[in-house]
Amino acid sequence: MRHLLSAADLSRETAIALLDSAEVMAETADRPHKKLPALRGRTIVNLFFEDSTRTRISFEAAQKRLSADVINFAAKGSSVSKGESLKDTAQTLTAMGVDAVVIRHGSSGAPHLLANRGWIDVPVVNAGDGTHEHPTQALLDAFTLRRRVYGHDSRCRGLDGLRVAIVGDVSHSRVARSNAWLLTTLGATVTLVGPPTLLPHDRSAFPVNFATNLDDVLRESPDAVMMLRIQKERMHSAFFPNEREFGLTWGLTAERFAAMSPHTLVMHPGPMNRGLEICSVAADSPQSTILDQVANGVFVRMAVMFAVLTGNEDV
Ligand code: NCD
Repeated sequence: MRHLLSAADLSRETAIALLDSAEVMAETADRPHKKLPALRGRTIVNLFFEDSTRTRISFEAAQKRLSADVINFAAKGSSVSKGESLKDTAQTLTAMGVDAVVIRHGSSGAPHLLANRGWIDVPVVNAGDGTHEHPTQALLDAFTLRRRVYGHDSRCRGLDGLRVAIVGDVSHSRVARSNAWLLTTLGATVTLVGPPTLLPHDRSAFPVNFATNLDDVLRESPDAVMMLRIQKERMHSAFFPNEREFGLTWGLTAERFAAMSPHTLVMHPGPMNRGLEICSVAADSPQSTILDQVANGVFVRMAVMFAVLTGNEDV
């Protein structure tokens, strides 16, 4: 695998190979010495043009566990604020001998520009681009689901027959988009649920079901319900009357959670707006996978960095 730009590009075989590689990486986490020498001598730059807590730290932890040298770049405080372009920023950094670039950017398609325009000649990993895609998040969500359902015996498996509801601010969510593609590729049935104003306009573009009534969807006892953050920073007009009404209609409230099947897993990519799209009772319950998702993110990103930097044909 040369780059990881989008979950929509991943074949079932490649996705399963990455998840299996992440399982191997996870085995190292219980050792007293967690570090593997796999990427010793390689330099990776993490280019973050948008705010991030878990994704940025997770990539850095993954790269360090594989013994890579890591350079962290935040647009704030850099020459980007003097007007330097993405192309010049990336070329400047790769001229310093960087072997791979991880990029998060507010503009959809920025990682594709870096990878496909010939500006730089190193692997590019998309850590979230605008409202477009967040492929490593979808991989860690798939990994988490697979482990919860099949336990440690999950190798070589997809997510065949599982039903997953992705709920809330779908239209601004790169997490929803990447999961819609990846979970479907792995054999799950995905339903996107939210107010009509926050569901994609062109529904034929996605291989999923759509619904507006969350209670109807939950009554069907899906295997997992993935709650999305309301992305106020991407909303330039009113998509729903007010937060209270949104929470009551499309949030995982305490009442809804109490009525829900005890077998439905509760997922959230973080950061959470507690009390808006998800209540604390649900987020902190044994049904919640939220901290597993964070932990698994490191293993999945180790697998991705290893795959793009070693050019392993299998993954
Ligand atoms: C998501 C993101 O940045 O796209 N967070 C994450 O990476 N864990 C989701 C969000 O910001 O709501």
